[in-house]
Parts: sequence; C-alpha cells; structure tokens
Amino acid sequence: MKILRTAVVGLGRIGWRFHVPEIVKNKGFELMAVVDPVAERLDEARLEFGVKTYEDHNNMFKAQEIDLVVIASPTKFHCEHTIAAFENDCHVFCDKPMASSLDEADAMIDSMNRYGKKMMIYQPHRARNEFIALKDIINSGIIGPVFMIRRANSGYNRRNDWQAFRQNAGGMLNNYGAHYIDQTLHLSGSKSKRIVCFLRSIASLGDADDVVKAIIETESGIIIDLEINQASAHPIRPWQILGKRGSVVFDEEQKAWKIRYYEEEELEDINIQEGLAAKNRRYGSGETIPWQEKIIPISEYHSVDFYQKCYEYFVMGHKSFVPVEETREVMRIISECRKFSNG
Ligand SMILES: NC(=O)c1ccc[n+]([C@@H]2O[C@H](COP(=O)([O-])OP(=O)(O)OC[C@H]3O[C@@H](n4cnc5c(N)ncnc54)[C@H](O)[C@@H]3O)[C@@H](O)[C@H]2O)c1
Repeated sequence: MKILRTAVVGLGRIGWRFHVPEIVKNKGFELMAVVDPVAERLDEARLEFGVKTYEDHNNMFKAQEIDLVVIASPTKFHCEHTIAAFENDCHVFCDKPMASSLDEADAMIDSMNRYGKKMMIYQPHRARNEFIALKDIINSGIIGPVFMIRRANSGYNRRNDWQAFRQNAGGMLNNYGAHYIDQTLHLSGSKSKRIVCFLRSIASLGDADDVVKAIIETESGIIIDLEINQASAHPIRPWQILGKRGSVVFDEEQKAWKIRYYEEEELEDINIQEGLAAKNRRYGSGETIPWQEKIIPISEYHSVDFYQKCYEYFVMGHKSFVPVEETREVMRIISECRKFSNG
C-alpha cells in the first residue's frame, strides 16, 4: 500500500483538531512534518507525534520529501502555501475557502496544471450524513423537480478573531459561505447564472461581513436563497428544499429530515374556470391537497470519510470528491456576491 508522506501547515482549530488526528489514524497517510509560526504549537506536535516541525514552510520543503501538503493556515495564506507545495512536487489538500479571491484561486489552479499535481478543497459539509440523506431524498423524486433551495445559518456572535477582519479574508461570505454555496450548488447540479447579494457587518467586532443575504439563480433555473446571519436573536430554519410536489425541512431537535408531499395520482381533477367572474365569488379551487408526511432520521445514513476520499483521489486516481472546477465556481460566486454588494 502506498503511504502518502503528509505535512500539515497551520496547527489551529481545524489543523490540530481535525486534520492531524485524521492523518494519524488513517493508514494510507504518515504525518511527516508540521508548520506553524507559534513555537508552543510545534513543541506540542513534536511531543505528541514525534514529527519534524518548522516555523516556515520553505524550510520544510528544503529539508524533507513530502507527497501531500494539508493547508490549514489562515485563508490569506492558502494561495502562497499551495503554490509553494506545487513548486516542491507535492499534491495539496486545502481547507475552505480555497483562497482570498478568485484571482488567487485561478493562480492556484494554473500552478497545479503547470506542475502536473492534484488539489482538492476540504468541504466537509458535503460529506455529512445529513447532506448525504438529503441528496438521497431529492434524488428519489418524492418532492418532484426542485425549484428553490433555502439554506440558512443563524446565531448572535460578536466575533473577535482574525475571521472578523477583511484584511485577513475573513467574514461570513468567505467563511460559512464557502460551505453553503458549495452545498447548494452541488444539490442543484448546475452553475450560477445571476446573483444578488447584500453584505453587512452588524454584531461582529471586526469590519468583515457577518450578515450575508444572497439569491443565486442557477443555469438550470433553481433559485438558491442563502442567508448567513450572525446577528439574529431568533434562529432561522437551516434548510428548506421546495419541489413541485412537496418540500423538505430539517428538524434540528430530532436530527431528521421532514418531508411533506403528495402523490400526483391522488390529486382531484379540477377544471379551469372559464370567464372573468370567479364562480360563486369563491377564493381557491376548494380542493384539499392530500399531503403525506415522512420523517427520515439522519442516523440512517453514514458520513463520508474525507481522508478515505483523499486517498482514493491522490493515490488511486479516482475522481475527486470535490472537483476543483466546482470549487472554482464557488469562488466565482463569492467574488460576484462581493461585487454586487459593493455596488
Ligand atoms: N473545513 C472546515 O470546516 C473549517 C473549519 C475551521 C476552519 N477552516 C478553515 O481553515 C483555515 C484555518 O482556520 P482555523 O479556524 O483553524 O484558524 P486558527 O486561527 O484556529 O488556526 C490558524 C493556525 O495557523 C497558524 N498560522 C498563522 N500564520 C501561519 C503561516 N504563515 N504559516 C503556517 N501557519 C500559520 C496559526 O498560528 C494557527 O495555529 C481557514 O482558512 C478556515 O476558513 C475550515
């Protein structure tokens, strides 16, 4: 079995708590080195895993042979770290958002192609059992053709870390937006055609957006209604997917999808009324929709093991679980959202 000699750049929340333990537990990977400018984080890694540590990624590339670099540094470094990895003959598994801007994302893709390497962006929301269950429900056709996807995240957070500031490529459009645009676009199976978007900074202690309202019309005609609201005292429903014959919502307490739908053949026959005087001065057709309900607990589904998907892509030559072209489209939408909001 080929073992991928792996390095992690950035030992913060996602680097230390997710990537490092996953690499260590997955037998296709060997943690060879870590990079972080904070000395005690390097000490911690040396003590716990016996790996080589570096304050600067360039020193690591000079000293060691690495196959895969996992980039979990702050967003504004993703482009620089990715290109350095390609220049040193490594593949890249980079955390979301791919980069600070569409130009940076394109520079990363150009570099990947120039050096003949591979890159995948870590979009964990695609892999969750909640999302796998939803795809299954929609693909079953139970609610008919989907015409609208509503996705929201809400809370009240006076954010005070680097993600609160524009100069760090922070803000919720980049941060959670990268997750939800990826999810909703993947569900719609189409690119975006038109976008309107409004960004505000309300509760945050920084200057980056913490309220995002975007409407994206896909080439396939689906309307994506996206709201990320970190200044909302009341919760907003996280998901509603609307189809011609029903809709699906997520129940956060029950951890289940709730489907309300009807069967076409159970509808009454109704005739179209002739003329311009509504019959009996009555509103509505008088029919009762024969609604049926289903509850699908997400525990019936398994989450995808992302590092297994990495191994299949980087080593076994399988199609990427998150193809770079799809992430480029996410980056393009983020860029268009920002342009619209800035007028
Ligand atoms: N996929 C997800 O679900 C998810 C979750 C959290 C964060 N992220 C992404 O991961 C990235 C890191 O976020 P975080 O929340 O872990 O941040 P963090 O602040 O917790 O950690 C960042 C780490 O990078 C280190 N660092 C700073 N400058 C560096 C440099 N030049 N080279 C190497 N390391 C450097 C810091 O010392 C720190 O240890 C961001 O792009 C973020 O959007 C993704």
